[in-house]
Amino acid sequence: MMEYVHLIFLSTFLSVSMTSETFDAMEGEALVIKCPRWSSAVNVAWYHTDTNKIIPAEEEGSRIFSLKRFLWFLPTSREDSGNYTCVTRFSSNSTKWFNMSVQVHPYKQGVCFPSQIRYPNDTGRGKIVCPTIDNYKNATIIQWYKDCKPLQGQRYFKGEKYVFINNPRQDDDGYYTCQFIYTHKGNVFNVSATRIFVSKVKHSPLPPQILFPKDKDVIEVELGAAFSLKCQARLGIKKQLMAVVTWDVDNIPVKYLDFSRFHEETHFFEGREQEYYRETTLHITEIKKEDLQANFTCVAVNEMYNTKATVTLQLKAQYGKIYDAYVIYPKSHTNEANFVEYFVYQIMPDILENKCGYKLCIYGRDIYPGEDTASAIEKRMQKSRRLIILLTCQLINCNEHAYDQHIALYNALIQNDTKVILLEMETIGTYEKLQESLRFIIKRQGTVKWKEQHTVHPQSSNSKFWKQVRYHMPWTLRSSYSANAR
Ligand SMILES: *[C@@H]1O[C@H](CO)[C@@H](O)[C@H](O)[C@H]1NC(C)=O
Ligand SMILES: *[C@@H]1O[C@H](CO)[C@@H](O)[C@H](O)[C@H]1NC(C)=O
Ligand SMILES: *[C@@H]1O[C@H](CO)[C@@H](O)[C@H](O)[C@H]1NC(C)=O
Ligand SMILES: *[C@@H]1O[C@H](CO)[C@@H](O)[C@H](O)[C@H]1NC(C)=O
Ligand SMILES: *[C@@H]1O[C@H](CO)[C@@H](O)[C@H](O)[C@H]1NC(C)=O
Ligand SMILES: *[C@@H]1O[C@H](CO)[C@@H](O)[C@H](O)[C@H]1NC(C)=O
Ligand SMILES: *[C@@H]1O[C@H](CO)[C@@H](O)[C@H](O)[C@H]1NC(C)=O
Repeated sequence: MMEYVHLIFLSTFLSVSMTSETFDAMEGEALVIKCPRWSSAVNVAWYHTDTNKIIPAEEEGSRIFSLKRFLWFLPTSREDSGNYTCVTRFSSNSTKWFNMSVQVHPYKQGVCFPSQIRYPNDTGRGKIVCPTIDNYKNATIIQWYKDCKPLQGQRYFKGEKYVFINNPRQDDDGYYTCQFIYTHKGNVFNVSATRIFVSKVKHSPLPPQILFPKDKDVIEVELGAAFSLKCQARLGIKKQLMAVVTWDVDNIPVKYLDFSRFHEETHFFEGREQEYYRETTLHITEIKKEDLQANFTCVAVNEMYNTKATVTLQLKAQYGKIYDAYVIYPKSHTNEANFVEYFVYQIMPDILENKCGYKLCIYGRDIYPGEDTASAIEKRMQKSRRLIILLTCQLINCNEHAYDQHIALYNALIQNDTKVILLEMETIGTYEKLQESLRFIIKRQGTVKWKEQHTVHPQSSNSKFWKQVRYHMPWTLRSSYSANAR
């Protein structure tokens, strides 16, 4: 009663300021409301506004109690709806009054929050803080809801007091409700709090993301050929103020490089949901050897930060090619052991395959007479990177049918630029009787001569003969090629 009198006394004779604030709460949940904080406040008292009855501090079993500038409802009940007044007394003996209006909403099946939203909108980049949770010590979020549906998925990162939406879009806008539990003296209370999230889709940057190329990609090129490297990056929603996608070669921006060989071309476009992309193509007029050692880095920058993807170039591997060389030789019609066949079946595989790691295609070993010979030969030739042709006198003197066929096929392949290695197994002397195409090759590159290089150890892979053969064999990527092709 003394307090009541005191209140009247103060309100009548001392300075009074009145404000009001409304709190909407769910029936059966914990609720705490706060009187504004003043640094010079001496004490705060809480009253039921309509009755002017003071609300005491916590006692055993009390459901509503005051604790300094806080008024607790543990939990709320529907009849708690009404007005509450907090009176702050200052050291000067002056006071300030505040009316607080509390609305307790009955729980309705399927309605996860009262339609009156108390908590400010969140207009941002995706971090939605759970409202009021700071009022409750050790509260734990149990579940987040969007428009009353549980929030789940990879795009949501749940922090202790917030949820973060990765790359928020317009359809992320809505009512976000956090439901948490608060434990007070061993009793567990539910609290839920809702706010509206409005994504900043109007021209918002997103963390820059390079869609291609992938970092550390190795791109196949051909020496001397022109080549274009494309880089595409997503930079935000709608046209960005700061948006750069550019290429560096060994960390030097392309604009500072030899622009007769390099130049950049950029364009932008919008994808779904107004996602803003930039694509920059680095045109290289001619690939040079030094490019195979260089780092080509695509840099994507917006106002948030920058990201990079570095690729390197390597020579195009001859995928598809299965054999390093297809061996063409005249076959004997007799059953006698013949040096050329001994050479083809024994010496050459021993050196080139066993010692040097090449793979050869040899008629009679890799193609059997039973197969549809012409097409089998053609297929194997197309899968060979070299043609090794053995030149013998027999080749001139007799009309070797299969051999002619080989040569005819070779002629067809000449357009494919398969390189030829001519092994002159016997001294032929004059080449005049040879096919014109063979004469042409001999004129251009000569032959590798077996007899003339004859040494004591013709089967040594170090002999001059084999060194010359190996010089003409494919040499780039040999070991890796061998590993891939087998
Ligand atoms: C606060 O409540 C008192 C008591 O009901 C009332 O007289 C006063 O007008 C209210 N003030 C405001 C600003 O609502
Ligand atoms: C609470 O106060 C407001 C005015 O501030 C008044 O309109 C309302 O009727 C009051 N509510 C109750 C339950 O007394
Ligand atoms: C405040 O009021 C108390 C009695 O209610 C009195 O003793 C004290 O002197 C007053 N202080 C001021 C600063 O007026
Ligand atoms: C909160 O967001 C809603 C929905 O976009 C909007 O209608 C309302 O005006 C916003 N409120 C404030 C205070 O910005
Ligand atoms: C809050 O949590 C801490 C650490 O988990 C614990 O020591 C403390 O007792 C808890 N306080 C309450 C009020 O539950
Ligand atoms: C808290 O809410 C959950 C689900 O909404 C319910 O199962 C549980 O009984 C509630 N706990 C209390 C103490 O009301
Ligand atoms: C290319 O990048 C790699 C890996 O970061 C680095 O080790 C190498 O030195 C770079 N090469 C040049 C030419 O900058």
